[in-house]
Amino acid sequence: MTPNLLKITPELTASVASKTAAAQTLLREIANNWSPAAFANSLGAEDMVLTDLIVKARLPIEIFSLDTGRLPLETYDLMAAVQQHYQLKLKVYFPQAEEVESFVRNHGINAFYESVTLRKACCYARKVEPLRRALASKRAWITGMRAEQAATRGNLALREYDEGNGLEKFNPLADWSEKEVWTYIKQHAVPYNALHDKFYPSIGCAPCSRAISPGEDIRSGRWWWESPESKECGLHVKATS
Ligand code: ADX
Ligand code: SF4
Repeated sequence: MTPNLLKITPELTASVASKTAAAQTLLREIANNWSPAAFANSLGAEDMVLTDLIVKARLPIEIFSLDTGRLPLETYDLMAAVQQHYQLKLKVYFPQAEEVESFVRNHGINAFYESVTLRKACCYARKVEPLRRALASKRAWITGMRAEQAATRGNLALREYDEGNGLEKFNPLADWSEKEVWTYIKQHAVPYNALHDKFYPSIGCAPCSRAISPGEDIRSGRWWWESPESKECGLHVKATS
């Protein structure tokens, strides 16, 4: 899906309007009742919708990104564009240097291709541990996850308790379809990752994301050498249970 290929029907316009209103209400509620709250912004399409909603409503919700050190160039370009477009000071968390250095020394720079265990260890050092630090003093966090995105996310709720990180977790776009996300982006001229126009529906680290063919599952370009059941990086542990 890219905005260029999207045909906005009256039905889509209506469903996006009502889901936008619901997401705005939920975000306001989080800001009022769950402060300090933070939004984990991967700069994917869903997260750009949430960025737009949070910034335009001037909600006191911290927006942060995890820079794994292996992100695609296009994601860094979007990070810069977002800061400019929204006049936003994005908070960026990096992995602990020693953890990454030790992983690379022991297993190699691209060891994640070798086994699920090594892939998860890389994700742990580069994403999960920095996420723990980002959430350390927060009462709630917000993600751009959708139930339709993956086999592992079918039972995703708008709100759930995140036991692993010990705080409330909100997924305001849980019931949005991919078309609804792109309708919002198009209608509000929201900046988005250039890789989406190159058939990357789901974007993570550069070596672990690739383009998909029409008809393929939207997460089939992530960790494509693994089976669908293992395709979570550890950021969203409860969603897999
Ligand atoms: S992942 O777990 O497979 O990497 P995905 O890319 O679908 O996750 O993103 C799901 C949600 O996790 C995003 O909407 C965002 O809230 C959070 N997330 C994922 N990657 C990052 C990142 N690099 N920085 C901040 N948040 C992220
Ligand atoms: Fe490492 Fe790939 Fe996970 Fe990024 S997505 S942290 S490169 S295994």
